[in-house]
Parts: sequence; C-alpha cells; structure tokens
Amino acid sequence: TANGLAKTPPMGWNSWNKFGCNINEKIVRDVADAMVRSGMRDAGYRYVVIDDCWHGVRDADGFITADPVKFPSGIKALADYVHSRGLKFGIYSDAGRKTCGGRPGSQGHEFQDALTYARWGVDYLKYDWCNTGTRNAEEAYALMSDALRSTGRDIVFSLCEWGNNQPWLWGAKIGNLWRISGDITDKWEGKYGHSWGMLNILDMAEPLWPYAGPGHWNDPDMLEVGNGGMTDAQYRSHFSLWALMAAPLIAGNDIANMDEATRAILLNREVIAINQDLLGIQGRRVWRDGNREVWVKPLSGGGRAVILFNRGDAPETIAVDWDALGYPPGLKARIRDLWQHRDLKPVAGRFSATVPAHGVVMVKVQP
Ligand code: GLA
Repeated sequence: TANGLAKTPPMGWNSWNKFGCNINEKIVRDVADAMVRSGMRDAGYRYVVIDDCWHGVRDADGFITADPVKFPSGIKALADYVHSRGLKFGIYSDAGRKTCGGRPGSQGHEFQDALTYARWGVDYLKYDWCNTGTRNAEEAYALMSDALRSTGRDIVFSLCEWGNNQPWLWGAKIGNLWRISGDITDKWEGKYGHSWGMLNILDMAEPLWPYAGPGHWNDPDMLEVGNGGMTDAQYRSHFSLWALMAAPLIAGNDIANMDEATRAILLNREVIAINQDLLGIQGRRVWRDGNREVWVKPLSGGGRAVILFNRGDAPETIAVDWDALGYPPGLKARIRDLWQHRDLKPVAGRFSATVPAHGVVMVKVQP
C-alpha cells in the first residue's frame, strides 16, 4: 500500500462488537487503561478504535463534531489520553451521506474530515459503506485514501465494504485491510439477519488467501472472544484460525472486565507471533474430510503453523502429512504446542493428535 503502514496485521480493540452505539469517552478511557494493565498493549494490541455513533453534527463550516453527551471532552482530548498510554487511536466514518448508525457520513466532506482526524491525532480510520447510493466503491475509497495521505499523517485505512465489490482485487493500492463479508456475530455458525456466525465468515475468507500480504490484509471482521456467545473451546478455535489467516486481531470484548479464560486466549503470545510473522502469508486449509480439517501457514525461517481443526461435536483424531506442508517425508521437525505451551516429541513424516469437539490443536512445526 502506498502509505507503507500495517506491514503485519493490525492489532487492537474496537468498540462495536460489545458496545454498539452505547459508547462514550469513559468506556474508551477505561479500555485504554485495561489494555495497559492486562498486558494487551505489550502483547501487540496497539489501536483503540471507536466505531459508529461518536459523531455529533457538522458545524456551520461543515466540520464534524463529537456527540456532546457521549464525548463531552471532545475527540482530541480522548486521542491525547489514548496516546499518553502508549497506544494508537482510531475512529470510524462512512463513505455515504450517513453512517450505518445514522450519524453524518463523509460523502462530500472527505478532505475536510481527513484534515479534522489528522488534527485530532487519529492513527486509524475504519470507513463503512452504508447509504452510499450509486457511488462506485473503488473510487469512493480511493478518494478517502488520497484525502488521508494528503494530511501527511500516518493513518491506517480500513475498508468496510463487506466484500460486495470484491475489494481484494483493488483494495491493496487504496487501504491496509478490507472486510470480505457482512458482520460477524458472537455465534459458532449460521446466518442471523445481516450477520454471520464465525464458521461462515471463516469459509468466506479462506479462498481469498492469495490476496493478503504485508500492508494489505483480508479482514474477516473483529474478534468475538469473550463476548459470551461461544464456549472457550470455540473461542480458542476462532482466535487460532484468525491468527493463522493473518487476519487483523481486533478484540471486541469488554477488556476492562474480562475473565481469566478470555485473557489467556487474547494474550497467547505464541499464537500472536504466528499472526504477526513477517512473511505475511495468509494460512489456508490444505485438507478436509467431513468435520476434520488441516490448516497451514508458512512462516519465516522455514517453519509452518498448523491447526488441526475439529468442527464436529465429538473428539476426533486428525493428522497432517509432511507433503501437505511441502516437506520431504523423512524430514525431522520439532513440534511446539501453542496452547499447551510445551514442546512435543520431534517427528518425521506426519503429526497427529486428538482434537476436542469444536476445538483446535495448534502447533508450530520447525524442521
Ligand atoms: C456496519 C459494519 C460494522 C459496524 C456497523 C456500525 O454494519 O460492518 O462493523 O461498523 O456498521 O454501524
């Protein structure tokens, strides 16, 4: 991407999945504090992003203002607060006349809004696609991309166009990540109105692996880990698969009040390291048989991240053969279990394990 940002998938937190429109400056400050206290910042979660519904009205000159009830101190003060905690600050707008939540959109105000964001100290913009009428998606996103770049500030650009216009074909020159689907919901699978369960989005994202790379990522939407609609095993699967797909890791839970299981998932540094690997290759499914799947992500240094994934309701034995990893059968490799945090017995030819229902075994294979 022309802006040179997001060489590895962006990591952070976004308000939408947990708080929706019920957002205010205290919640965001508490999240910023919790990011530091919990160790999330030091584990790599950098961006604190306010989603829809922060906006007030446009002033007489057309400049956007913050909702005076929810954000009485203003956005600049909030960005300063987030920066003072060693974090980066993100915000949300929309390429139409109004956002999805009915607040003022940026259509016709692109350069003015980009300038405003830069003056406030914004480091990340998520740009939505509601109420865009007959606009051409690529042109609308390119316009805001130019506007952001003209400010001279480093601003990660997140395209939220839901995959309607195949943004993986043109997004890399315009932004740093692009949504590939409608919204995720905190469910294992299914369709819920305009939203999808985790497995549905996983299957939409998988075939798009060739389009991802350093600076430009497929975005299968934000994490639901810790929001209560899935089991801990399902959340471990969600987090592992998102990490392996080189997806942006944007937490979407109430991290100021998360339980120990949620913390252990979001703060698994070994899994985060797979996501942040500098080769920047999106992992993919290399084998499936019914509910049993093998997913692989090539890593710098010649290793592979491997997920044995069990979609079924009972435990299964799943194996990966070396030829699926691109290794000769006799090659001996070290095996590191990334959830048990221990080294397993080195093997050659294949690795096999029992995988819990709806769960994963995730290992790093290193010849
Ligand atoms: C759309 C986006 C979501 C969220 C909401 C806000 O649905 O896809 O991620 O930003 O709008 O209204």
